Amino acid sequence: MQAKLKIAIQKSGRLSEKSLALLQECGISFNLGSNTLRTESHNFPLELLLLRDDDIPAYVSDGVADIGILGENVVLEKGYPLEIVEKLGFGKCRLSLAVPRATHYQGLSDFAGKRIATSYPKILGTYLRVAGVEAEIHVISGSVEIAPSIGLAEGICDIVSSGSTLLSNGLKEVEEVLTSEAVLVAKPHLEGEKRDIFDKLLFRLRAVRRSQHNKYILLNAPQDKLDQIIAILPGLKSPTVLPLAEEGWVSVHSVIHEDDFWEKIDALQQAGAEGILVVPIEKMLI
Ligand code: PRP
Ligand code: ZN
Repeated sequence: MQAKLKIAIQKSGRLSEKSLALLQECGISFNLGSNTLRTESHNFPLELLLLRDDDIPAYVSDGVADIGILGENVVLEKGYPLEIVEKLGFGKCRLSLAVPRATHYQGLSDFAGKRIATSYPKILGTYLRVAGVEAEIHVISGSVEIAPSIGLAEGICDIVSSGSTLLSNGLKEVEEVLTSEAVLVAKPHLEGEKRDIFDKLLFRLRAVRRSQHNKYILLNAPQDKLDQIIAILPGLKSPTVLPLAEEGWVSVHSVIHEDDFWEKIDALQQAGAEGILVVPIEKMLI
């Protein structure tokens, strides 16, 4: 029987859906019922474990799972020796300090001698120590945002994504402690068949991620401006240039990165490019 790689993802929460969708985009499907906690893919040697995100670092570190998808914030807080293999570009959020909206907040030193409720005692402890602020850290594992209104703490330190949880609990964000996103973690030194499966998964995953950052561009260019236009478009190797039916014109195809997308488009237009089309790339396999 072929070995299977075990991946742990969040059972329910901010990252669950997108973690599954990413695996799906890698061509890996699962049959999932509403209460499934463990299942195998029928088209890739991967076993899926659906767990509380807070438990994933321990499970991967113990070898119950080989790899996992979870927030960098949880990885840092738990402090297990896991390898962060890849940032995944979704689940972006920040770990922030927040206080009741009516509080007249002036600065971090306002927290001196106060109680702060959090599920991130380690990260918060380090942050306060570095800042030289002595506060009492009150550890609670969930529904942290309720702590000030029930008199448990004067402030909280928790994950903020859209900000709606803070808003609906009458809190305002006052300091950003760290930023985070979903990451792929692995137990260090995966070997043998599992390593091979992991490499295969990673190849697919990087292809999907790369395609999310790049666009395919097609444009028409006057032949005499071609050099100038090609200089703007480095592409993967060099752009494809095809003659158009109209004399003196060519069609140029290439790939551009989303980071400098609009700058490139402006430059291309100024250089005389016309009929610019930009299309998404399904997979990018280099
Ligand atoms: C966080 C945090 C808040 C929520 C904030 O939970 O605890 O409840 O997200 O999001 P919002 O700003 O969009 O309202 P998280 O998904 O990190 O997982 P948890 O339930 O394990 O704490
Ligand atoms: Zn959690």
